[in-house]
Amino acid sequence: MRWCYFQVNREVLGMLTTTAAPFIEDARARDQLFIRQPYELYSEENHAAWRSLYARMQPRWARYANPHFLEGQASLRLDASRVPRLEDVNQFLAPLTGFQARAVSGYVPPFLFFDCLRRREFPTTVTIRSLDSLDYLPEPDIFHDIAGHVPMHTHRDFAETLVRFGDCAHTAAGIAAGIHDENLRLERLSSIVKAMARFFWFTVEFGLLRTPGGLRAYGSGLLSSHSELPHALESPEVQRSEACLEWMIHQSFAIDHFQPLLFVVEGFEHLYELVGKLEEWMLAGKLDHVAPGEPALSLEDLRSFYWA
Ligand SMILES: [Fe+2]
Repeated sequence: MRWCYFQVNREVLGMLTTTAAPFIEDARARDQLFIRQPYELYSEENHAAWRSLYARMQPRWARYANPHFLEGQASLRLDASRVPRLEDVNQFLAPLTGFQARAVSGYVPPFLFFDCLRRREFPTTVTIRSLDSLDYLPEPDIFHDIAGHVPMHTHRDFAETLVRFGDCAHTAAGIAAGIHDENLRLERLSSIVKAMARFFWFTVEFGLLRTPGGLRAYGSGLLSSHSELPHALESPEVQRSEACLEWMIHQSFAIDHFQPLLFVVEGFEHLYELVGKLEEWMLAGKLDHVAPGEPALSLEDLRSFYWA
């Protein structure tokens, strides 16, 4: 009995399941954001969750993912049967665009997140959702980050776009540093960061790309969702509009249901140009009074821009 108890306890301690991973809780308790990927702690259930998620997405990706994502996936040689080791992913990713996946213990404040992108590091969650809730994701997991995001990071123009987001965050920090009144600084940052977060949401997370074969997904929120991916491209309830910066920065969104509005880019050079325009507008004061609404930003989120 003692042996059985030990085995069961070890299994629980060993899991890297979303919201039930002692390793991650310990790291958070120590304020350790950047961590190693404790690969030995993945349980068989964790690997089975990866396997199921991957297997059911494959036909969806073949039909709805943009071709650059599929090429990226092939060049990363992702293992469909086991949770990937970040070092293996990075071995194939880094020579292509310089990007690397870097393990984190949880939420990354916005400035730090964008600054990581500027250094070509992608903050990556190492936990995975539980096998009995494959559709429910209370927070990002390694399937979203590695299977959904990272294949896009193999594309040169897309990777440069992410770096450009990092430049924008530094520009925002510079604007904030020039405002001496604390309330005014927070007010201005709140609007600028909201605009950036909305733009990121409607592109990197939920963007659509026009291809010769029709519209395809490049946003990782879509590419990691079994149910939302076909809905995004086929449902008559979804409005698919040409990418419009002005609309995106003023448009709030909700994270807990399928997106009713999606934006289409013509290519990743187009996306890169849009981020450049976002920065121009920021410097011209055109992001200072965006429409209220989601996403909500905490004081900590805004103060993360004081670091630069
Ligand atoms: Fe994401």
